[in-house]
Amino acid sequence: MIELKNIYKSYHTKNDKITALKNINLRINKNEIFGIIGLSGAGKSTLIRTINGLEKIDQGTILVDKINITNLNKKDLLKERKNIGMIFQHFDLLNSRTVYRNVAFPLEISKVDKKIIAERVNELLDLVGLADKRDTYPSQLSGGQKQRVAIARALANNPKLLLCDEATSALDPETTKSILALLKKLQQTLDLTIIMITHQMEVVKEICDRVAVINNGEIVELGNIEEIFFNPKSKVTQGFINSIHSNDIKDITIPNKENSKLIKLTFIGESSKKPIISSLIKNNNVEINIISGNIDKLTSTNIGNLIIQISGNSNEIKNSINYLNAEGIKWEVINNDKSI
Ligand SMILES: Nc1ncnc2c1ncn2[C@@H]1O[C@H](COP(=O)(O)OP(=O)(O)OP(=O)(O)O)[C@@H](O)[C@H]1O
Ligand SMILES: [Mg+2]
Repeated sequence: MIELKNIYKSYHTKNDKITALKNINLRINKNEIFGIIGLSGAGKSTLIRTINGLEKIDQGTILVDKINITNLNKKDLLKERKNIGMIFQHFDLLNSRTVYRNVAFPLEISKVDKKIIAERVNELLDLVGLADKRDTYPSQLSGGQKQRVAIARALANNPKLLLCDEATSALDPETTKSILALLKKLQQTLDLTIIMITHQMEVVKEICDRVAVINNGEIVELGNIEEIFFNPKSKVTQGFINSIHSNDIKDITIPNKENSKLIKLTFIGESSKKPIISSLIKNNNVEINIISGNIDKLTSTNIGNLIIQISGNSNEIKNSINYLNAEGIKWEVINNDKSI
């Protein structure tokens, strides 16, 4: 559905040239929810704005449904943009217009008949659960309600693609969940393709099918959400995943034990249901302290992380590691002495 090939983009300021995107190559499939995660300044907004032609690129090709966005003249670009909805962190509603008139706005610009506008707006407000707020002004709405209005407005022209730039970053965790659930529902019922820009791994984890990690204008990692969570390769990705885990062992007092190792275990899918810890203790004569644990519920599977302190003689520990390998459990020694 969307193909970005070899994209370069820089900004020129008075004394400086900032390269915001470097050699970006991405293919986003129809009907998927694709996440793009990165730190502040990584180039996320620049990237998403190139897809609807809000940002001109220096080099490369952008195909949206086989149409080359980079070659369009102004008129054709405006026409094409109607097929691409967009929502933002701060909602960007028109404060002097009611909820109804905000959603009607893009249709008024397209000179749609008033009666059809009324039908469409009411349908959209039903869809986002705001039928009772149609005559309310944005200033009287909560953040979550404002984002629902913005979503309804973005969908007014029936786009097949929805771009979301930090759509939940200004919302509390509970409201974030409800907006993400709404986006997921809309993706399924309206056959939408959604691109989610975010700096929050929680958002990616909650609804994305695939994710690209962007750092300093470059894609440093890309994959299915379970691959990324199970086996994050880049430091940036590892940082994002650790940020949502409570297993920061700096804050935990770890018993001082001789002949012990601190090990992080990662389980995926079915392996999370096996009695690994009791088998380790029974079969290998080791002692185990559970230091911390958590489960990431992803769209497709669950990934569990457990930090344990394992004590025993070197043979017992080696046997334990062999057992983990045989069971397909990923392990990593996390204390200073990394040898086994
Ligand atoms: N209009 C502009 N003029 C000059 N530099 C810009 C402009 N817009 C963005 N930049 C620079 O380009 C780089 C990428 O910015 P961008 O806004 O795409 O990052 P981002 O990942 O969206 O960050 P954030 O999470 O803070 O929104 C940054 O170094 C930024 O300072
Ligand atoms: Mg941004």
